[in-house]
Amino acid sequence: MKTTISQVGKYTDQEVTIGAWIANKRSSGKIAFLQLRDGTGFIQGVVVKAEVSEEVFATAKSITQESSLFVTGVVRSDERAPSGYELTVTGIEVIHEAVDYPITPKEHGTEFLMDNRHLWLRSKRQHAVMKVRNELIRATYEFFNENGFVKVDPPILTGSSAEGTTNLFHTKYFDEDAYLSQSGQLYMEAAAMALGKVFSFGPTFRAEKSKTRRHLIEFWMIEPEMAFVDHEENLQVQEQYVSFMVQSVLKNCQLELKVLGRDTAKLEQVVGPFPRITYDDAIKFLQENGHEIEWGEDFGAPHETAIAQSFDKPVFITHYPAAIKAFYMKPDPNRADVVLCADMIAPEGYGEIIGGSQRIDDMELLQERFQEHNLSEETYKWYLDLRRYGSVPHSGFGLGLERTVAWVCGLDHVRETIPFPRLLNRLYP
Ligand code: 4AD
Ligand code: MG
Repeated sequence: MKTTISQVGKYTDQEVTIGAWIANKRSSGKIAFLQLRDGTGFIQGVVVKAEVSEEVFATAKSITQESSLFVTGVVRSDERAPSGYELTVTGIEVIHEAVDYPITPKEHGTEFLMDNRHLWLRSKRQHAVMKVRNELIRATYEFFNENGFVKVDPPILTGSSAEGTTNLFHTKYFDEDAYLSQSGQLYMEAAAMALGKVFSFGPTFRAEKSKTRRHLIEFWMIEPEMAFVDHEENLQVQEQYVSFMVQSVLKNCQLELKVLGRDTAKLEQVVGPFPRITYDDAIKFLQENGHEIEWGEDFGAPHETAIAQSFDKPVFITHYPAAIKAFYMKPDPNRADVVLCADMIAPEGYGEIIGGSQRIDDMELLQERFQEHNLSEETYKWYLDLRRYGSVPHSGFGLGLERTVAWVCGLDHVRETIPFPRLLNRLYP
């Protein structure tokens, strides 16, 4: 019976054939242990000299790392095996012999691994990260579909900027100028006026000159946008969504979290409601704890980490000064110098994973903001129309997938959270 490693449990004590690669190998004169992987999982194949033909044992002894093969064997239930099963090998058919695979079981430096990212993806650890990433995506679709959101795809090539003009990727669009999307938000606002509750999931581009553990040049963002929803309700959706994602990973990725050595007790605490702190109070807290920061300045990574360390769940920092946030955020009606916004900061020092706000719904105020931010009204004419025809209170947010993967997996750099990271100075492979 031809099957995959993830399905072997259905064939205990039966003979199966699996297409696989050799991840690793150990052998002695009488026995060979083949660490097999097929994409769906990892399993150990045991080849006993006394139980197979001379040819099969010779192949098992000589086969090289990352060679591909069809391996036939009897499935044994084994409590000590991470997957719960082992394969007693009876036959091997080599498909392709790999020579001098560069990533050996010894330690390698980061740059070397990054240069070989196309191969590094095959490792057990990277496999686990990609599976968790996939589970976060799957849970995202489940959450928004179950809660009445419609998936909408905003454009990637745009004529306008949503998040300031300093980190735009410029390109030509025939005779016009165009930019790669920094955020689908403005288009999602239009979609919310047509469909009520919408979400997008797509690539985002920011020519960030900063080389940090949290910044990618190309990353993926989930951007929900909701008509008739205010700041407070927006935060509730965010805590429900993030709790749901984390609990889904705990439920469906136990094996992967184990491979990654993740402390799951910390993730189990991620259940809403999440604590909230205003920007004002966050500044006071930081000043009292020896940080040099003044009201009006934006937080850096050390500030976010210091704030997050006071909590064992993600924390919302709300009501930032209007001057350091995007042009579209609605001012607090009680206090015009701050806006109805929140950043969600992940625990354990993983930084900001969500930025969101209630949006300006008044046309004149929006026009004032365009002037203050030197944005041409002509470019945003369509965006103003949303305030011209049946404007409503509305809110939304953007969750950065890679930072969420880093947090849930417990990784110290976002470069391992995406199959082919685009970083400052890295476009290969
Ligand atoms: O806070 P940001 O810039 O918010 C927006 O783009 C809004 N328009 C979203 C919205 O309201 N629809 O980005 C949102 C999130 C951040 O919290 C972070 O998780 C992630 O996107 N992010 C990055 N992730 C990796 N690399 C970068 N360079 C990132 N920049 C932002
Ligand atoms: Mg932000």
